[in-house]
Amino acid sequence: MNKKRVPIIAGNWKMNMTATQARELTSKLIPLVANVKDRDIVLSPPFTSIAAVAETIKGTNIGLAAQNLHWEDKGAFTGEISADMLLDSGCKYVIIGHSERRQYFGETEETVNRKVKQALKKGLLPILCVGETLAEREAGRLNEIISRQVTGGLKDISTDDMKKVVIAYEPVWAIGTGKTATPEQANEVHALIRQKVKALYSTDIAEGLRIQYGGSVTPENVSTLMAMPDIDGALVGGASLKPESFAALVRFT
Ligand code: PGA
Repeated sequence: MNKKRVPIIAGNWKMNMTATQARELTSKLIPLVANVKDRDIVLSPPFTSIAAVAETIKGTNIGLAAQNLHWEDKGAFTGEISADMLLDSGCKYVIIGHSERRQYFGETEETVNRKVKQALKKGLLPILCVGETLAEREAGRLNEIISRQVTGGLKDISTDDMKKVVIAYEPVWAIGTGKTATPEQANEVHALIRQKVKALYSTDIAEGLRIQYGGSVTPENVSTLMAMPDIDGALVGGASLKPESFAALVRFT
């Protein structure tokens, strides 16, 4: 492996894995990735399994992410989870603005941005997700959509805070469909995101930014994706639900 930035491979379990199942999967995964040192490994369980995973990964090289958070500190927000709750449960990262949340739960540029700001204020590292739908791509709107999501998600984020942000590029048409973007297609958008961040911040910030690719990443295609210069990691759904396949992804060469 010859990467400019430390790769970050994250498993997004979505609404899968009870605490019991999470403990079992994680226990099997730990020995399979125990000697991996040159990349960050992250698991993102649903809220009710966070504690079980936190307990199981104690003292290992695996980090913990939540799949969402609320932008307020605390209070009358029934059904929501705060940054302090996540930190206290052992989370280091939080996924924000996943396309499923934008699509099914009404997340907007504004709520995504509020969540990114809250995560940073509280000391959680945000994984900000962006990506176009097939209709948007076919209508020639790729550039516009990605620019809008990057600019909107990062509104009012300081240069110092920007050093803590990870961006995940996930073309909506590639998520859970088995249709991966080709490494060239993915890299083109990663380069565009880096360009955008350079314009908003600086060359240094853009060159330090880690951009994950997500959308039907498998042990079979991970290496060709990771060989691209602007792809710094993977955000993996389906293939992260089995310890063997997630371990194979983590161990890409
Ligand atoms: P997938 O999901 O790997 O199942 O396509 C990726 C994601 O939504 O993060």
